Amino acid sequence: MSVDLSTTYLGLTLANPVVASAGPLTREAESLKKLEAAGVGAAVMPSLFEEEVEHDEWQEHRLHVFGSDSFAEALDYFPEHAVPGDGPQAYLQRVREAKAAVSIPIIASLNGTSRGGWTAYARKIEEAGADALELNVYFMATDPNVTSAEVESRYVELVAEVRATIGIPLAVKIGPYFSSLPNIARQLVEAGANGLVLFNRFLQPDIDLESLSVEPRMTLSSDYEMRLPLRWIAILRSQLATSLAATSGVHDARSVAKLLLAGADVTMTTAALLQQGPQYAGKMIEDLRHWMVEHEYESVQQLKGSMSTENCPNPQAYERANYLRTLISYTGSEI
Ligand SMILES: Cc1cc2nc3c(=O)[nH]c(=O)nc-3n(C[C@H](O)[C@H](O)[C@H](O)COP(=O)(O)O)c2cc1C
Repeated sequence: MSVDLSTTYLGLTLANPVVASAGPLTREAESLKKLEAAGVGAAVMPSLFEEEVEHDEWQEHRLHVFGSDSFAEALDYFPEHAVPGDGPQAYLQRVREAKAAVSIPIIASLNGTSRGGWTAYARKIEEAGADALELNVYFMATDPNVTSAEVESRYVELVAEVRATIGIPLAVKIGPYFSSLPNIARQLVEAGANGLVLFNRFLQPDIDLESLSVEPRMTLSSDYEMRLPLRWIAILRSQLATSLAATSGVHDARSVAKLLLAGADVTMTTAALLQQGPQYAGKMIEDLRHWMVEHEYESVQQLKGSMSTENCPNPQAYERANYLRTLISYTGSEI
């Protein structure tokens, strides 16, 4: 039995729903070629960060005022500080190299939290040849005077600004921590997002008990983390006519199948490819094909959303009702 693995995401046709999400393997043309050879449907490049663009602009300004009367003043105003990353020009060059090296769709990524001049890079990324743009909004609200509505407006205004800057499709990558996720998701789509990428994994800081310093710790995901995007994609699928991508905890074909059943158009993976190597994408795709043959699915299209809240026999399993049943029926046998 032949199986059609193709899917559409952000209006692009992808050979299959296994996408390499932003991470070290999608940075350089050489590793992108390996991912393409393994069969990924598309790749999302690591982000160009708002801080990198702003740092670059400071540097330019410093050069501009060098030798002028205001040089000393400018030094005070624009203190030297290290920003990781090699800057916007190198980023645009990598997008061009990626496009020249592979023929799978290349989705570039901008990462920031506020409106401003830096978003002009969305246009430059489009001009460099990216097929689509992912906007990662990684904002931590810590000010008690800022309301949820103000935080949401910030997201929506940023998305509208980037949308107005480019003609290519725009996906927005967000975290799960909203009081009403369906509402902000709808607002983002209305502001012009063509798709949502669910979810950002926030890196949690840790305290080193010896040096008494606070360090952000990078811990790669575990496969159970895919259940958070699974729930929300199942709920949002019937509410929004937009592309949905699942990211966080996609480690094997079983997770890919589950997320497609919930309603994802694509599934994205970083940690599994870092741990197992780029060729592992090929195994995920083949395992998905086998699972579909075994379960008599002819196409990814047929699979997509067939277990969303709208289509599954017990939609309450995605909601609060199942919480009660799960807690009460827990037998403790695993203790
Ligand atoms: C080392 C590393 C670098 C990453 N860099 C980016 C990045 O530049 N931009 C971005 O949006 N996400 C970035 N991510 C997040 C991944 O794209 C992905 O959303 C996250 O790791 C969850 O997926 P996973 O469970 O498959 O790893 C990075 C993740 C890792 C592990």
